[in-house]
Amino acid sequence: MKHITLDTTNPIWDRFFTVAPLVLVGTRDPDGALDLAPKHMAMPMGWQNYFGFVCAPSHSTCSNIARTGEFTVSFPKPSQVLYSSLAASPRSDGHKPVLDLYETFPASQVDGEFIEDAYLFLECRHHRTYDDFGPNCLITGEIVAAHAEAGFIRSSERDSAELLAENPLLAYVSPGRFASIERTNAFPFPADMKK
Ligand SMILES: Cc1cc2nc3c(=O)[nH]c(=O)nc-3n(C[C@H](O)[C@H](O)[C@H](O)COP(=O)(O)O)c2cc1C
Repeated sequence: MKHITLDTTNPIWDRFFTVAPLVLVGTRDPDGALDLAPKHMAMPMGWQNYFGFVCAPSHSTCSNIARTGEFTVSFPKPSQVLYSSLAASPRSDGHKPVLDLYETFPASQVDGEFIEDAYLFLECRHHRTYDDFGPNCLITGEIVAAHAEAGFIRSSERDSAELLAENPLLAYVSPGRFASIERTNAFPFPADMKK
């Protein structure tokens, strides 16, 4: 197999595709307005109830969380890809006017909002921000409440392949593409594997 060595004096991540989730992180601006920002560099922080995402100190999301100590995470469905994208629209007069068009509902344990019709909703208290990744930072939170649309909840009576076929997941294929994941297969775990 022919390998090409990439130039690591520049960021490598636009040279190939990788699979990522896509979430909307919700915070409060200083005047109380809702801020939502799409993040694809986002994942559970371990097997316990922690969640983290890559941000930048220059983003309002980062300063909002430093100030309020909380944030929400909405996991949109494939049909909501445009909402996910438009939340990255530039600000005018300090606000993202497009967010006025979003239907949202309030979180229960933190002062935050979720987008309507997403499938998974996390309410997080700020845990720690790791501010030493060049211009980026890693923001982590403890999940203090979580909600999911009933059709997306796993159960022993429900075939997982069917569940996902009926309730597809949105994937961000970085950079610049997305996919709706409908067809999946059981992962071939080794016998007696421990987490
Ligand atoms: C598909 C997509 C994925 C993105 N992923 C990230 C990400 O993982 N981390 C990040 O810092 N910015 C990411 N961004 C950019 C931010 O969402 C964007 O800069 C946003 O407007 C910041 O808003 P804020 O200043 O209100 O925090 C992404 C944008 C798009 C469109």
